[in-house]
Amino acid sequence: MPDEAAVAARLAGRDPWLRLRKPRYQLQMIGDLLELLPEGRCRLLDIGAGNGLVAETLAALAPGKQPIGVDIAGHALPDLRIPFARFDGRRLPFADGVFDCALMCNMLHHVKPEMRARLLREALRVTGGGPLIIKDHLASTWLDHVRLWALDVLGNAPRGFMISASYLEPGDWERLLAELGLSGVILPPAPYRGGAFSLVFPNRLEICLRVSRDSL
Ligand SMILES: C[S@@+](CC[C@H](N)C(=O)[O-])C[C@H]1O[C@@H](n2cnc3c(N)ncnc32)[C@H](O)[C@@H]1O
Repeated sequence: MPDEAAVAARLAGRDPWLRLRKPRYQLQMIGDLLELLPEGRCRLLDIGAGNGLVAETLAALAPGKQPIGVDIAGHALPDLRIPFARFDGRRLPFADGVFDCALMCNMLHHVKPEMRARLLREALRVTGGGPLIIKDHLASTWLDHVRLWALDVLGNAPRGFMISASYLEPGDWERLLAELGLSGVILPPAPYRGGAFSLVFPNRLEICLRVSRDSL
């Protein structure tokens, strides 16, 4: 991770909500994503890009990363510095294999469970089998579902992002990846939150993985 203070200042300059306090969560997330991105030049499709800030930041921090953001909603920053397009949430408007990698950051839990495999297949189609870098959540108990809903309300409502969600449990992840023949690496739990906040919202709620069809 490059200089954390500089990245925090960059984020704060682009999103007023990230000026209120140190954006610990976003810094950890960007660090995790940088770790999982392929090295060197990479045409990257950010699916469910939201305001586009995550992909824009990755492009600024990692030389050779060329992201395009897509989303069903039109919440892109007005002066977003990467290309952005809306689509119908089903068929990605790109030819087979034109990307080196796809990112799905905190979006899969907003996709209806019966639509997830289809969207992942689309991501595999446009990347020629991956890799797919997925940052999402892991709900292991009923209380985790409540916790994650509260986090989505806190984090998404102010930005007008989607709140309706269905959080994946360990078995849901296993079934989804097995159905698509995907394997790869899952990062160990990381300190997305600290202090009392991490007691109420444990860091094990966050998962970050890189999977592909042909990975070992
Ligand atoms: C919590 S936001 C995350 C935005 C961004 N990835 C980030 O991390 O800041 C979830 C986004 O997923 C988008 N989304 C939900 N269902 C989608 C679908 N089927 N295809 C593409 N985007 C979708 C929503 O519109 C929303 O912008």
